[in-house]
Amino acid sequence: MKNRFMLAPLTNQQSAPDGAATDYDVDWVRRIALGGYALVQTCAATVQGTGRAFKGQLGIHSDEQLDGLRRMADAIREGGALSAVQLHHAGHRARPELGGVPAPASDDPHAGLTAMTTEQVERLRDDFIRAAQRAQLAGFDGVAVHGAFGFVISEFLSPLLNRRRDRYGSSIENRARLLFEVIDGIRRTCGPQFQIGLRLSVERYGLRIEELRDITAEAFRQAQIDYLDLALWNSAQLVMDGPLAGRTMLSVFADLPRGNVRLGVAGKIRSAQRANEVIEEGADFVLIGRAAILNADFPQRIFTCPEYHAPELPIDVAHLQREGLSPPFINYMRTSWDGFVA
Ligand SMILES: Cc1cc2nc3c(=O)[nH]c(=O)nc-3n(C[C@H](O)[C@H](O)[C@H](O)COP(=O)(O)O)c2cc1C
Repeated sequence: MKNRFMLAPLTNQQSAPDGAATDYDVDWVRRIALGGYALVQTCAATVQGTGRAFKGQLGIHSDEQLDGLRRMADAIREGGALSAVQLHHAGHRARPELGGVPAPASDDPHAGLTAMTTEQVERLRDDFIRAAQRAQLAGFDGVAVHGAFGFVISEFLSPLLNRRRDRYGSSIENRARLLFEVIDGIRRTCGPQFQIGLRLSVERYGLRIEELRDITAEAFRQAQIDYLDLALWNSAQLVMDGPLAGRTMLSVFADLPRGNVRLGVAGKIRSAQRANEVIEEGADFVLIGRAAILNADFPQRIFTCPEYHAPELPIDVAHLQREGLSPPFINYMRTSWDGFVA
């Protein structure tokens, strides 16, 4: 990476109904890459067509999507950044009204859902790996495995949501098996030069920070991944209860020996000052989410003016139009992100 700015994965609901990348997708990543980010992650892209959670979600589950993905990879490279596709499956959060089929780790009689069979879990693992191969074929430098926000990999990690009795459930080792098999498979299939990121969140969905710390320690020890992306909503968030209470969530992960694996953090980083604070606390790089929507060239602005701070929210639609956001992206920000658009 040429600097410490990474674009956080940002769903923008601007892909075609079949998951193919549109001109909007290509234009967005091109502007972001030109804006100075060292590495640009795509929005969450489905590794199975049935794993959809969002309208207009990008797909990487079919070879027919390769052309559009190739255009995105080219645009990022031409803009001077490294690239990664975020690999996603919504698990129990897949949305039937969008063609999704909820695929939970455990039975949910209340919602009328039956747990995935062991064979279905193995197929899902293989589809994550196949999607990574597709990303490589399309010319991306790497992939980022979505293990956050209760989506399938995070769901399997959760002792609340994963009550399976096969080798993918019960012990923490079993609950983390899907994650590590996906990472191993990608590394084996795509080779040592292909960059692999892992995104984990530690809040909600019954996730336990002590367990996630142990899983991260193991991922750092195995060194199959290149970076961990800690998906916080506020990078200054403190642990509220349990043995780690009072520490920042970031410090819990930054204090682990990490060898050559890099550590990044997301959450309300909207100025160089805040970026420097998390780097002083032990992060190697920062992920920029909402500030990138406000300014596609947020890093460039900081390089020009180190005191720069992203605009305050809520923002008016005219600003987002001037920034070149597509109509579906603006509509998504208006309807789904309370307090973002005035
Ligand atoms: C509009 C929007 C879309 C997002 N889409 C994704 C996504 O596709 N995958 C993901 O892992 N996180 C997603 N996130 C979370 C961001 O990547 C990031 O972690 C979060 O917004 C905190 O960073 P920020 O305070 O800089 O926005 C999304 C956030 C926003 C605001």
